[in-house]
Amino acid sequence: MLLLMYVLLKSVYIPPNIILMELFIETSSLAAVIHKDYTLLPVINRLGVKLGFGDLTIKELCDKECIDVTFFMEIINVFHNESYFSKKKLLDFSVNVVIDYLLKTHKYYLGYVLPEQERLIDLFLTKCINGSKENELIRKFYNKFREEFVNHVQFEEVKVFPYIIKLSETIHIPLQRNDFIDQYRNFTIKGFEKEHGNMDEKMFDLKNIIIKYLPPNYDLNIGNSLLTNLFMFEKDLKNHARIEEKILISKVKQLEKVIKKDE
Ligand SMILES: [Fe+2]
Ligand SMILES: [Fe+2]
Repeated sequence: MLLLMYVLLKSVYIPPNIILMELFIETSSLAAVIHKDYTLLPVINRLGVKLGFGDLTIKELCDKECIDVTFFMEIINVFHNESYFSKKKLLDFSVNVVIDYLLKTHKYYLGYVLPEQERLIDLFLTKCINGSKENELIRKFYNKFREEFVNHVQFEEVKVFPYIIKLSETIHIPLQRNDFIDQYRNFTIKGFEKEHGNMDEKMFDLKNIIIKYLPPNYDLNIGNSLLTNLFMFEKDLKNHARIEEKILISKVKQLEKVIKKDE
């Protein structure tokens, strides 16, 4: 009997991460998807979708808005499931599609997330009376994070993304390969990969300081709003870094190998 139970259990074993993984499909209604996971709201905006889409399925909506439905599905599923990452599928997209999405994400961070965080931090600290030492610590840590983050984004936009776009263009124009190699003699994606800092880990440290060392008289509601904002940003940053490191950098390494073959 025991042996029979063992055989039955073994034959139906499914790893726990697969059991828990919920994947959206093209025929899912986008409204139902948002009801399931509202943190996808800024993600669908970056992919070119605004609210007000009625009962349309993802496929119908993407067709209507001329959005690549496969890319849309991959991005929302990567964002929704931490354990889901179809590297093979994502590697099929062109670097231009991936960079366009990453640039829209940067724009959202710099244009909305950071100003909103600053507003909440200002409001929060002005309400924290009798906590000057802790206030100073939070302010200092946030300013440092902000400065590093802006430098990080600028470096990618000014140096890394133009290099990748030029590399992918040069692949198709063999005559330009020598010029490309001369222009970027001192730059490789491996060098960038080594330096690519973990901004989500720094965001985690900031949250930790706020959670552990808040002055006793802090405003509960503003404190909670600020932390909710930071948690959402940390999740977004994690996914952003996953796409940069696992997809973009992997693709670029493949392209660099092709260029080097001709050196
Ligand atoms: Fe980035
Ligand atoms: Fe980055």
